[in-house]
This record gives sequence, C-alpha cells and structure tokens, in this order.
Amino acid sequence: MTAWEAAADVVVVGSGVAGLTCARDAAAYGLSVLVVTKAGVDDGSTRWAQGGVAVVDEAAGDSVGAHLADTLSAGAGLCDPVAARDILAAGPTAVARLRRRGAVFDTDPDGVLLRTREGGHHADRIVHAGGDATGAEVARALTAPQGLPVTLADHLALDVALSPDGTAVGVRVLTPDGTTGSIRAAAVVLATGGLGQLFASSTNPAVATADGVAMALRAGAVTADLEFVQFHPTALFGGVAAGRRDLVTEALRGAGAVLVDGAGRSVTAGVHPAGDLAPRDVVALAVTRRMAENVCGIDDHVFLDARAVPEVTRRFPTVAAAAGELGLRLDRHLLPVSPAAHYSCGGVWTDRSGRTSVPGLWAVGEVARTGLHGANRLASNSLLEGLVMGGRAAAAIAAEPVRAADTATVRAPATRWCPPARREEFQRSMSRYAGIGRDAVGLGAVRRLAGRITDGGPGGAGPSRASVEATNLAQVGAVLAAAATARSAGVGCHVRTDDRPDGLVGSLFVSWRDGAPVVDDRRPSGREVANR
Ligand code: FAD
Ligand code: SIN
Repeated sequence: MTAWEAAADVVVVGSGVAGLTCARDAAAYGLSVLVVTKAGVDDGSTRWAQGGVAVVDEAAGDSVGAHLADTLSAGAGLCDPVAARDILAAGPTAVARLRRRGAVFDTDPDGVLLRTREGGHHADRIVHAGGDATGAEVARALTAPQGLPVTLADHLALDVALSPDGTAVGVRVLTPDGTTGSIRAAAVVLATGGLGQLFASSTNPAVATADGVAMALRAGAVTADLEFVQFHPTALFGGVAAGRRDLVTEALRGAGAVLVDGAGRSVTAGVHPAGDLAPRDVVALAVTRRMAENVCGIDDHVFLDARAVPEVTRRFPTVAAAAGELGLRLDRHLLPVSPAAHYSCGGVWTDRSGRTSVPGLWAVGEVARTGLHGANRLASNSLLEGLVMGGRAAAAIAAEPVRAADTATVRAPATRWCPPARREEFQRSMSRYAGIGRDAVGLGAVRRLAGRITDGGPGGAGPSRASVEATNLAQVGAVLAAAATARSAGVGCHVRTDDRPDGLVGSLFVSWRDGAPVVDDRRPSGREVANR
C-alpha cells in the first residue's frame, strides 16, 4: 500500500448527477469533500440523457401513487415498493433544488414546467431541458464552479481501501502521470454510473465499464439485480461515436412517432395494449423479434417514423443533429434504429440512504441497486434516483457519528489486473449470449471466457485504464452471467430463450469470494447490515 497522499471526510468517485449532488450536499453540510473522476468532469452518462426527469405534478392531477404504480408495473414484480415510493415521493423537492442550483427546464410562457410522456407512463410527467438535451443541462448546472468541491479529473479509482475489520477508509487511485496514490476518507461514495460497455453495442459513453460494481465486489459488498440490463429499443443504427451509439429518445414516441418494419408494418401492434409506449423491455423485445423475421431482407434494424410529430426538429434538436450526421431529416425520413445496452437496473445493494453492506462504503446513482427499478426501469426514473439518493447519502453521512477508523494498517484487495487484449471479444460474447435472449449454454460460454480473462496465467498487467477496465468488465460480466444463469425464468429485461420455472420470488444477491461469484437469494443479513 502506498502512503496516504490526500484526505477528506468524504471521497466521491464519479462526477455525474448522483456523485455531484452528493458532493455538493456533503460540502454544504460542512464536510470536506474530494471528487475523483476517471475522465473529464462531465464524461459520464448524465450529460447524454435526453428524455428528462420523471417527477409528478400533483397540481395537474398526477400523484406519487400513480407514478409508483407505473414504476412497479414496469419493474415486473421485482421492485422494492417501499424504497420506490420513498424515492419517487422525494422527486419534486429534488428537482426544485436542482433548479435552485441553476438548471433551466423547459417551461410554457407562464413559467410552468412542460411535461412529456415516455414508455410505461400513464401521465405526462417527464420534465425536460433544451427539448431533448436534459442531461447536458443537468451536467452544466452541477459542474458550475460555485459550490463545486475539489474535483480531480483523470484520476482512476482502482480499489476501496479497507481497515483490518473490513471498514472502507479510502480509495486507491491511478493518477494522470501513471502513479498510484491513496485518498483517506471516513466515507467512500461510489457514483461510477453504469456498465453499458460490457456489451459491443451501447448508448453509454466510454467510461461506463462497471468499475464501481467491481470495486464494491472486491471490497466484500453484496450486489443485486445485475441480470437486469435494460436495452433501449431505439439507438440510432449507423451512428457510433467512440463506442457510444446515439440515442433516439423515447419521448419522440411520446410525441407520436411510431416504430415500423421494412414493410411499413407497426412493430408493436398486438404486443402490448400501450403499443409503442409499452415499457422499454417489451418494446426492445418486439424490435428484436421483428428484426429476426428479416422483413424485406433487413435483419439488423427497424425504423422510427417521426414525420408526423409537430415541430419535430425544434422539439428534438439532439436527435435531429445525430440524424443529420447520417444525412437524415426527422420531418422527411424514417430513422433506422435498433436496441442497444442502455441501463443497469441492478448494482451495489444499498439501503434507503445509499449505505452498502460494507461499513463506510456508499453507492448512489446507476451503480447502486436501491430497489426502485426491479426487473426493468421505468423511463426517466434514473436522473430522479441520482438526484434523490445523492442527497440522501450526503445527509446520512453528515448525520453519522465520526468513526475512528484504523488507517494505520490499511489493506486493499490484491487485485490482479488483466491484460486488455480480449476486451472486444468479451463484449461480443456478452452481446451474443447475455443480451436480449439468453440461455444456459450461452451464459456458460460467457462465464468461461470471463474466467480465462481473470485467471489468465502468471503475472498480470500493471494498473492502467485499459487493464483496470478489462478486469472490471470480466468480473462484473461473470457476476451478471452467474445471476442470469441462476434465474432460469425470464422476467423484465431478462429474457430466457430456455425459460424454465425457478421458484424465485425476489432478487438475487451476488458477492465475490475466492475469485468467483457467489449467488444467494436471501437479502444481506447479519454483519452485512450491522451498520444500519
Ligand atoms: P454517470 O453520469 O454515468 O457518471 C459516472 C461517473 O463515474 C463519471 O464521472 C465517470 O468518469 C466516473 N467513473 C466511473 N468509473 C470510475 C473510476 N474507476 N474512477 C473514477 N471515476 C469513475 N435517465 C433518465 O432519467 N432520463 C433520461 O432522459 C435518460 N436518458 C439517457 C440517455 C442516454 C444516452 C444514456 C446513456 C442514459 C440516459 N439515462 C436517462 C440514464 C441516466 O443518464 C444515467 O443513469 C445517469 O445519468 C447516471 O448518473 P450517475 O451519476 O450514476 O453516473
Ligand atoms: C430516452 O430519452 O429515451 C431515455 C430515457 C431514459 O433512459 O430514462
């Protein structure tokens, strides 16, 4: 272990909506806060968010109960209803606070927030900014210099540092000049976002490599629901930038756009009563099945017809610009689209304040599993979750008694970093065998490949961004495949082509022991929740 080089009350790993909300709030409570992020300050998923933030307007007749009902229905029976209600009910206050921090949402001339609809919602409750550039505005407001704690860009978190009794007491980082250093902190907050880069095709930016989940597993934390990876039905086909596919927001369907195949037939007719506005897992599966029918010789995309949407280019400038790169116009052309890995419904198991099962370790945002999303996240519930849980964690950390952690004999997991040579092969394997439609044989192939990558002979690589990401992807891919294997009945985003009853009624909890995933169907207990 290297000598301590920096110290703070709180170290936040990640500078997206969840991390920066937590960091800003913790600083406002008077705590010293350090934020580390492995790339630029706004290189996470947050700035790419399009549709908006789902939040009810009770004055307009909507209610938390109705939002909860839509969330539970999309989540296919696997949400934690108490946690879900708790988070959704805090939405209006969290959005109001974000507006006070400077975020400007779209309003009518009287200043009333405009609200739109996305799949699975039975009310217009999604507030948005810049038409379809909500994430960019959220990121702009949260990265504004005033009130922003010290933020170290290009600092890659490697592992959680632990005291002898297993309490998180800091984080090891790789600095921009390639040396390792350590930051000591009484609270370590993982806010590292998603895992879309596990797959060959994703809407997620390059940083979304499951680092926080891998770090938490190696620190002894429990994860849950990782088998539920949400695929967005409409990523632009043909538009790829640095491993990230452009998104065509679901809000376009909320405004009247329809999905059609090469013969002009509706993709979702007869599939679900809500048609193109069915929950996302239903629409993504319908698109996948239609592609497999090879209509008019097209087996890799369908089309979104947005030509009848009023003022479509003005209302959806981000999508219009991405389509323009392909020489297409929303008001004139059909957009080629296909599903892409988009969102991790599961993650590091937390309680309702963001505590993980490891004392001193917290998780907020997409990296966490709070129970809000179940087997399939309701559209636009994740920015909301990041805002609410970032704030909750900060408040709980500030309220905790100061712990005298033993930092004299700190240890970190002895992680063996893997060479990155097989990263693309692993991503292709995940897409083929762990995407929409999985079976036991294919999941076994994923697990064997992950094992070959993580156990790849003597030595191992030194820590670099490439080797760390390759290691994290293989470990989390193995955990995902283990959970997906254990859940032999399909539900929500988890589509099993060899569907068999498994008797499971709730979540699967997976930890990492002796270099392999251990799957359990019981909630964390005993010492794991002793710090509640
Ligand atoms: P992120 O914003 O992804 O930030 C993660 C941070 O962690 C980054 O700063 C990254 O650099 C850092 N990091 C990662 N690993 C390390 C490491 N090892 N060391 C140091 N730093 C690290 N949700 C909605 O609710 N509404 C929408 O309209 C919407 N649209 C979306 C559109 C797109 C294209 C995408 C990809 C997602 C969309 N989502 C939407 C989902 C939502 O944007 C994300 O779930 C949310 O922004 C995640 O926020 P976060 O703070 O958890 O993580
Ligand atoms: C979208 O705008 O379609 C994405 C919304 C989300 O992922 O919540």
